[in-house]
Amino acid sequence: MAVSIKNEDQINKMRIAGKLAADVLVMIEPYIKVGVTTDELDKICHDYIVDVQQAIPAPLNYHGFPKSICTSVNHQVCHGIPSPKKLKKGDIVNIDITVIKDGFHGDTSKMFFIGKPNVAAKRICDIAQKSLYIGINMVKPGVHLGDIGHAIQTFAEAQFCSVVREYCGHGIGEKFHEEPQVLHYGKAGTGVVLKEGMTFTIEPMINTGKRHVKQLPDKWTVVTKDHSLSAQWEHTLLVTKTGVEILTLRDEENFPTI
Ligand code: MF3
Ligand code: CO
Ligand code: CO
Repeated sequence: MAVSIKNEDQINKMRIAGKLAADVLVMIEPYIKVGVTTDELDKICHDYIVDVQQAIPAPLNYHGFPKSICTSVNHQVCHGIPSPKKLKKGDIVNIDITVIKDGFHGDTSKMFFIGKPNVAAKRICDIAQKSLYIGINMVKPGVHLGDIGHAIQTFAEAQFCSVVREYCGHGIGEKFHEEPQVLHYGKAGTGVVLKEGMTFTIEPMINTGKRHVKQLPDKWTVVTKDHSLSAQWEHTLLVTKTGVEILTLRDEENFPTI
């Protein structure tokens, strides 16, 4: 199956869904502090998406996922299930939001600190964000996905960090996960060639330790095997005639590319 190209009407719907997903990350920030449970954050996001945005939280019941957002704390890599456990000082947490509006998906995540982060925690969050931005800045027609994976891997490994290989970015649209797979490692000049109108995510998961991961018995939460810290940032992107449009951009980000 080929990678789908979105038409103007579909792109406008992706813009709306992307903006809503970004808005949820902005909305939830003031609630993320010492003592809050990830279950509470899940409920606040759920109610905001459903009642205020009149949208659908895509994770809920997705292949049996039990909650409306993913919350991945410290050595959790991705797909963490919100729980009654309280966040504590020094934790880092990825909040991953996907909404469906008018049939289209917007998918975005970022890292938050609980209290003041220690040096290692701040560092891995910054490196993961930079990895995402390096990938985004390469997006334009004619670029191979392998070029992007290679650039992210080269950057992260030069910082003595590792790139998770079992999970990747993805095409997105009327389906949550479409073709192509967007690997965050690889070889330049290989893989799908980007074309105007493609929409996909980049969402590198970067570890302070080794790249290997395992899934917990809950069948969802992915953790680093060596229990080292992991961080992830995600945006939904549109390939434009000359470059990229970040469909899930937040005001706090200032992007020189657009
Ligand atoms: N939002 C995740 C992604 O970026 C996928 C979560 S699937 C879920 O692709 F079922 F865990 F929600
Ligand atoms: Co995604
Ligand atoms: Co996501």
